[in-house]
Amino acid sequence: MRTHEELASTYGSPLYVYELDTLRANLADLTAALPARSTVLYSLKANPHARLVRELATHGCGAEVSSLSELRTAVDAGVGERDVLYTGPGKSRAEITAAVRAGSHWFSVDSAPQLDAVRAVADDMAVGLRVLLRVNPDHSTPGSALVMTGVASPFGLDADQILAEPSAFAPTTRCQVVGLHFYLGSGVPDAAALAAQFAASIRTAVTIQRRLGFDWEVLDLGGGFPRSFACSDERPGLAGLREALDDALAAVPGAVRVLFESGRYLVGSAGHLVATVVDVKRSKGRWFAILDSGINHLGGMAGLGRLPRMQPEIIGVGESDEQVSIVGPLCTPLDWWTRSGQLRPQPGALIVVPNTGAYGLTASLVAFLGRDCPGELVLDHGEVVDASVLSYARQPLVPEGLSTTVEETP
Ligand SMILES: Cc1ncc(COP(=O)(O)O)c(C=O)c1O
Repeated sequence: MRTHEELASTYGSPLYVYELDTLRANLADLTAALPARSTVLYSLKANPHARLVRELATHGCGAEVSSLSELRTAVDAGVGERDVLYTGPGKSRAEITAAVRAGSHWFSVDSAPQLDAVRAVADDMAVGLRVLLRVNPDHSTPGSALVMTGVASPFGLDADQILAEPSAFAPTTRCQVVGLHFYLGSGVPDAAALAAQFAASIRTAVTIQRRLGFDWEVLDLGGGFPRSFACSDERPGLAGLREALDDALAAVPGAVRVLFESGRYLVGSAGHLVATVVDVKRSKGRWFAILDSGINHLGGMAGLGRLPRMQPEIIGVGESDEQVSIVGPLCTPLDWWTRSGQLRPQPGALIVVPNTGAYGLTASLVAFLGRDCPGELVLDHGEVVDASVLSYARQPLVPEGLSTTVEETP
């Protein structure tokens, strides 16, 4: 097993380090907590690193993608057409067309106009497309870190709107609704809350399917599986979830394929960020440790309520009686990770931020101030099997081109 010092001296700092052993263990844990007939879709938004996606695909995961870039990563990783679900509101016809060309035949839609757009693309391209209606149900899940439906939302069609006008969802020659999609929110507090959420979604799904009468192939129950972010807190396990789901799914006909979606549960604890203290200074009675990494590499999703309040662990230096602000190198006072660190950092010391495999780099402000992205290492059994760095570059804008295509840019 290579130490952080060895990795940083070979590959530089900062570094994101991902471990395939942990990734496989997380998938095994999640699969064991779900009914035998289910398939897990990996949500690439959590971390689109191609090597991680390939590892999950090799071990049976499908993919939930929300952009052409994510779709291509999933297809390149070997995820089959039947196992890639294209989700997200606001898909233009150009994007849907490009997605079909890139290998997607299966879309989740959030509104009636979105369904019309998929229908139109199916006709224009003379291909058969399958649709899941994303449902915004009447129930929400108290205690979730991020609520997406169950409230007024851009995500999903309100359940009562679907029930009020079933004919709007009838099959057309080349496009048919084959299932329902739920995703209520992220970071559901525990197994009991997840079980209650899924049971309520199943009841809603059965009601909608009966009313619409479509050929039911797929029920995507979404997820919200909890995992700690940027701190080493243990999260509650998923004991009892499988039994609760087996009971609730008894109401659903046997041939329906049941899907779940997960990002953070799979990759969160499989990654950590290693950064270096560049400078230590005192200002008006407070210590500041300035790192080579900040909100451009971790924690830029403040707008989504994901601004981390971390407890970074420092390798090689002890604790201090005084409070230290741990800040990044960006020219903004917003670039801070903690204002109450109990650390005694020295220049050159390494800081490790655990559980940052999900919503780390690509959920951050990587282009702000134009600093380099951290290197990304993938380790298997402690050895480096992949070393790469994400880069972004200005390119000519092609007139009339498909501007929805953005390669490798989060
Ligand atoms: C539709 C959908 N599916 C899956 C996810 C993944 O969530 P998590 O990483 O919490 O598992 C999200 C997150 O926002 C989402 O919006």
